[in-house]
Amino acid sequence: MKSNDYLPHEVQIVARVQEAPDIFTLRLRFTDLAHHARYHFDAGQFNMLYLHGVGEVAISIASDPKDTHLIDHTVRVVGRVTKALAQLQTGDYLGLRGPFGRGWPMAAAQGRDVLLITGGLGCAPVVSVVHYVLRRRAHYARLIIMQGVKHTHDLIWRRQYDTWAAAPNTQVLLTADQTGQGWPFNTGLVTQLIGQAQFDPANAVAMLCGPEGMMRATAHALQERGLPDHDIWLSMERNMHCAVGHCGHCQFGGSFICKDGPVYPLPEISHLLGVKGF
Ligand SMILES: Cc1cc2nc3c(=O)[nH]c(=O)nc-3n(C[C@H](O)[C@H](O)[C@H](O)COP(=O)(O)OP(=O)(O)OC[C@H]3O[C@@H](n4cnc5c(N)ncnc54)[C@H](O)[C@@H]3O)c2cc1C
Ligand code: FES
Repeated sequence: MKSNDYLPHEVQIVARVQEAPDIFTLRLRFTDLAHHARYHFDAGQFNMLYLHGVGEVAISIASDPKDTHLIDHTVRVVGRVTKALAQLQTGDYLGLRGPFGRGWPMAAAQGRDVLLITGGLGCAPVVSVVHYVLRRRAHYARLIIMQGVKHTHDLIWRRQYDTWAAAPNTQVLLTADQTGQGWPFNTGLVTQLIGQAQFDPANAVAMLCGPEGMMRATAHALQERGLPDHDIWLSMERNMHCAVGHCGHCQFGGSFICKDGPVYPLPEISHLLGVKGF
């Protein structure tokens, strides 16, 4: 029987981790074990999480594609549905449909330096890439993680950044726009970190996630360091409804972010970045 992309499958919460006051991770397993065995995804793809009587939201898959026994989603409480998801506990049930969209270019990045550049309050789509590279360390060259936040207290997962910084061949650069006493990292915009990043522009792939203005400025700074446009990839975000390219809610120029994205190479979307109405 052909599967129905609109139909949520029941999943159970096997574990729940509180990552920060308003951020939590749900570890999920399909109750239909045959469906679970068939379920596969790529790093950077997303699922629609569905709560009966409340609604549905797009959430990136944070776990490793090879680790299919549990499927992790890290969620920040924003509004109606994410608030309701935050109330769920281990053992509770919800709906899941997916995976959807185009993920990160992990195969094309093999053997090359990987730059992950994020802005704002944590960026789940990129966390999955960190785990992906660290688990397959020999397949990639340098891993450079750059994160920028507005205020120092916006930096979550600080311990995780320390762990990543201690990993082989890995550089972690953190910055905040506004800093004060006791802040051991950089002050300023995330674009200002690019000068400190140790990578070979002729053999690197950059993956960006964050507010569109930040991604536009970052792409420009990378171009100035000599990185070709086709090696700069961006994860775009829009409010999703159908997630399969039918409803038009996520239309972005001639493409649908749910189906053609959320990850795009810069040349596909550079003409739309920063254009009002897109
Ligand atoms: C491909 C993709 C992957 C995502 N991955 C994650 C993830 O891993 N973890 C996570 O916490 N969130 C993720 N999001 C964002 C998440 O889908 C939204 O935060 C969520 O839909 C909010 O739903 P809500 O009902 O809680 O809030 P709502 O009540 O719907 O919205 C609250 C406010 O946020 C705005 N808003 C809602 N969704 C979006 C959006 N997608 N873009 C811009 N503004 C929005 C609304 O207009 C409103 O102002 C992802 C979104 C996309 C498109
Ligand atoms: S969410 Fe319906 S077309 Fe993308």
